[in-house]
Amino acid sequence: MALTHTRPIHSDPPPPPAESDELVCSLHEQQQEQQLEEESSVSDTAAFCLESPARCLTGEACIERAWDQWNKLGRPKLIVAPMVDNSELPFRMLCRKYGAEAAYTPMLHSRIFTETEKYRNEEFTTCKEDRPLFVQFCANDPDILLAAARRVEPYCDYVDINFGCPQRIARRGNYGAFLMDKLPLVKSLVEKLATNLHVPVSCKIRVFPNLQDTLSYAKMLEDAGCSLLAVHGRTRDEKDGKKFRADWNAIRAVKNALRIPVLANGNIRHMDDVKNLMEETGCDGVLSAESLLENPALFAGFRTAEWIEGSEESTKDGNLDQADLLVEYLKLCERYPVPWRMIRSHVHKLLGEWFRIHPSVREDLNAQSRLTFEFLYDMVNQLRERGVRIPLYQKDTNVTDGLAS
Ligand SMILES: Cc1cc2nc3c(=O)[nH]c(=O)nc-3n(C[C@H](O)[C@H](O)[C@H](O)COP(=O)(O)O)c2cc1C
Repeated sequence: MALTHTRPIHSDPPPPPAESDELVCSLHEQQQEQQLEEESSVSDTAAFCLESPARCLTGEACIERAWDQWNKLGRPKLIVAPMVDNSELPFRMLCRKYGAEAAYTPMLHSRIFTETEKYRNEEFTTCKEDRPLFVQFCANDPDILLAAARRVEPYCDYVDINFGCPQRIARRGNYGAFLMDKLPLVKSLVEKLATNLHVPVSCKIRVFPNLQDTLSYAKMLEDAGCSLLAVHGRTRDEKDGKKFRADWNAIRAVKNALRIPVLANGNIRHMDDVKNLMEETGCDGVLSAESLLENPALFAGFRTAEWIEGSEESTKDGNLDQADLLVEYLKLCERYPVPWRMIRSHVHKLLGEWFRIHPSVREDLNAQSRLTFEFLYDMVNQLRERGVRIPLYQKDTNVTDGLAS
């Protein structure tokens, strides 16, 4: 059977939480079997999904299960961080082509996701090749979170809870990093998913100003059934990533205190940072956000001109630039449609430096209330015709040395 490329969640949710464990299992098995029939190959991940929920597992077995999943996924180290409006399917696929080994969706609002079909169809699309995949939700109600998670669990490898969003909207909505003041609620959200879902639950957190608080928080999450923890080494008040350096020592302390896989996040500009962050924290993988937006080929060892100045090692023109990457991204968008606001955002991030040289091209872009692919391809051609080219660079040596598993 032919496989559709994108997989928006059009259909009604799986039936409501069932009365007995057996029923939950059989419903999910049916759902999984249907999915597997549609797909040409059966992955280990799908096999994991067929297992029963974790409700009967003891602490020790939870840790084992956490590592089983991580191993089945091939221990991905280079991961696209969750980014609202920016880590959508075509961008994830572009990053995967250039070295990303796993990716998060943008944060999805669990209540709106359960209530609104349009939101689901626009904000969450995926495809067979889009794995391993973390689907991230924000939430403050365990039952609503579970209902949202049940809709996506057949299509992902982890359902992730965002406990790190520091924005005003999260304060008003009572989610993200503002739940750091409501740890019993955090615990109940994690427990709800860990004991009822077939896929494991992961969490993404920020650190507390006090290390001991961070460690107690991380331990609580592990004890509640979190199978994988991503730690962004900034506090809730350190919103500006350019102004505040992430605290890699705090991330290392969390990694040392926990038994589940831990991912490190913050301050990655290029592959040297990836190597240093992994070595300094001992973490199992890294997440990158801002730098990938400017350079989706970062994980393949490409770096922007900004990060070769002052470097003692020799670099060469990588025969790839941000306009090439934009064209690849646009082609992916034609294949996997997404809202134009997401495309517009990536155009600005990818071509920011190019627009600084020719601001009139940016003004022309900003003047378009409706975009078309034709306009965007033509815009790239115009920049090229004006002779603009800002290459991405590569080291002469193999930059991923030392990261191979
Ligand atoms: C545009 C943008 C959107 C983001 N959206 C989310 C999000 O949806 N969920 C989340 O947990 N973090 C989100 N973040 C935070 C990043 O995942 C990451 O934790 C943060 O940027 C630090 O990583 P970095 O230093 O590599 O940028 C976002 C960051 C950016 C730049």
